[in-house]
Amino acid sequence: MIELTDVSKKFNDGTLALSGVNLRIEDGEFIFLIGSSGAGKTTFLKLILRELLPTSGKLAIDGLELAKMKGRDILALRRNIGFVFQDLKLLSDRNIYENVALSLEVLGKKPADIKKEVAEVLNLVGLKDYGQMFPAQLSGGELQRVAIARALAGNPKYLFADEPTGNVDPANGWKIIQILDKVNKNGVTVIMATHNSEIVDSLVRRVVRLDNGQVVYDKKGKYHEA
Ligand SMILES: Nc1ncnc2c1ncn2[C@@H]1O[C@H](COP(=O)(O)OP(=O)(O)O)[C@@H](O)[C@H]1O
Ligand SMILES: [Mg+2]
Repeated sequence: MIELTDVSKKFNDGTLALSGVNLRIEDGEFIFLIGSSGAGKTTFLKLILRELLPTSGKLAIDGLELAKMKGRDILALRRNIGFVFQDLKLLSDRNIYENVALSLEVLGKKPADIKKEVAEVLNLVGLKDYGQMFPAQLSGGELQRVAIARALAGNPKYLFADEPTGNVDPANGWKIIQILDKVNKNGVTVIMATHNSEIVDSLVRRVVRLDNGQVVYDKKGKYHEA
C-alpha cells in the first residue's frame, strides 16, 4: 500500500510541484495519473520511487515512511518497484537481452535464472525474438515495451510508468495499455502517468487527476463520462 498524507514538494527555486496531496493506493490497484504538462505527475512518481523526498507531509510504502528509510530499506524498496522512465534510459551499445538482463545482474542473480527471467518478460511484452537486436533497430513502441520488460524483470510488486504512451502511435499505445493491464491482472500495482486523458477510457480504472500539484479528481470509471 502507498499512502500519502498531506504531501507537498517545493523545489529549491520555489516551484511548488505538489501541494497537500492525500492519496491511498491499495495493493493490486491500477491508477491512471493524469494532468497536463507541469501538473506534477513526474514529481509524484519520483517521490514514490524515493528519488525525491517530500518537503512536508508523510509518504509511506507498505507501512515504511520513505523519508526515514536507510540503506538496506531503500534497496528493498527499489527491488519492489519497476520504473519506466519517460526517456526510457536504454543503453544503445547493448542489445535488448542485455538491456533487460542488466538489472538482474546487479541483483547478483545466477546466469541461468537471468536467462529464464529475461525470456519471460520479453515474451510478456510481445518481443520474445528481439533479444539480439539493438535499440536503434526498434520502433518507438517496441522500445517502450523493452523498457517495460526491463522494469518487470525481478518481479516487482509495483510498476510505475511515466508517459509510456507519450511517443507512440495510437495502435502501439493501446498495445502498451493492454500489457500494463495484463501485468496488473498478475497482481502488480500499476501507476501510469499520462497527459493524454483520452487514453484512460480504454480501461475502466481509477483515475487520479493532478492540477497545479493538487489532486482535483479521484474516481474509478470512465473519465470522460464522469
Ligand atoms: N528539478 C526541478 N526544479 C524546479 N522545478 C521543477 C523541477 N522538476 C519539475 N519542476 C517543476 O515542477 C512542476 C511539476 O513538474 P512535473 O512533475 O515534471 O510535471 P508533469 O510530469 O506533470 O509534466 C513544473 O512546474 C515543473 O517545471
Ligand atoms: Mg512528466
